[in-house]
Amino acid sequence: MIHDKIEQIKTEIANSLIQTTDELELFRIKFLGSKNCIKDLFSELKNVPNEHKKQVGQQLNELKNLAELHFTAHQDVLKTEVTAENKLDLSRPAETTPVGSHHPLSLVRDEIITIFKKIGFTISEGPEIEDDWHNFSALNFPPEHPARDMQDTFFIEKGEREMALRTHTSSVQVRVMENTAPPIRTISPGRVYRNEAISARAHCFFHQIEGLYIDKGVSFADLKQTLLYFAKELFGTKAQIRMRPSYFPFTEPSAEVDVSCSLCNQKGCNVCKHSGWLEIMGCGMVDPNVLNACGLDSKTYSGYAFGMGVERITQLKYRVGDLRMYSENDVRFLKQFQAGI
Ligand code: DAH
Repeated sequence: MIHDKIEQIKTEIANSLIQTTDELELFRIKFLGSKNCIKDLFSELKNVPNEHKKQVGQQLNELKNLAELHFTAHQDVLKTEVTAENKLDLSRPAETTPVGSHHPLSLVRDEIITIFKKIGFTISEGPEIEDDWHNFSALNFPPEHPARDMQDTFFIEKGEREMALRTHTSSVQVRVMENTAPPIRTISPGRVYRNEAISARAHCFFHQIEGLYIDKGVSFADLKQTLLYFAKELFGTKAQIRMRPSYFPFTEPSAEVDVSCSLCNQKGCNVCKHSGWLEIMGCGMVDPNVLNACGLDSKTYSGYAFGMGVERITQLKYRVGDLRMYSENDVRFLKQFQAGI
């Protein structure tokens, strides 16, 4: 009798159709709930003759296990179906894809390049390992000039074939003048190196953008107008510039260029040290000695040159006070320049 009931429940379990969570619950109540049918059979065990008790008890335990297995197997299937459904919920907001960011120095370099490209400047590049001629001699540096000093320059080879890491991108203007017939209108972005102890205000490498314009009849007025255009494009239409007399071996006359402080509208702040002006570059008319050294006739051609530090401009645009941050690769810093998607 009890054998028949066991067999019947076995078949019922095997044939039970579970496709929804409701059906799963019905199954649970029937076979595993507090008043389930297997339990009823356990209570009938007392009526089974002693010699069969052990065997029937075993069969009942197997039946209970079968019901449990059947239940958990269907429960797992239903769970994965639910998560699969969720994955396909097209109304959910999309997960954001992490994107990289441009380095602030690249952003500013590219912006400066775009500004000069608009008025017809090309881009030229030169090697970072330079000879004495292109880095110093052709640029009118006298042999005893302090910039050649070991303290400033990383020499790679001394002596006859003297090679060094370039200390400025002015070396590229020499290469361009040697290889191109005027009119020349070019900017040269690149990395430069100086033998300096690393601190918040100095680094052993940094970046510059050099500008050069050579043609017949180029004047200081052209230089001033170009730099005013540049300052307005980069810092806003209200920007003004001023030029202070200065000295560079490769330009005559030479000047230092300041831009009006847009942070305080020239009222005076910490960044401009209460002067209302921020120094942004050096410039001047290319010295005739340099033109001649580069194979151009200084009686026919004249030109201007300028050079600016990309870190300096970035500091003014993004208030990055410490030069070391540019090369530390700290993602908390770099993420702030992430483009929106
Ligand atoms: N080469 C100079 C430096 O590294 C910057 C500079 C000044 C470049 C005046 C120029 C210039 O072309 O005319 O400090």
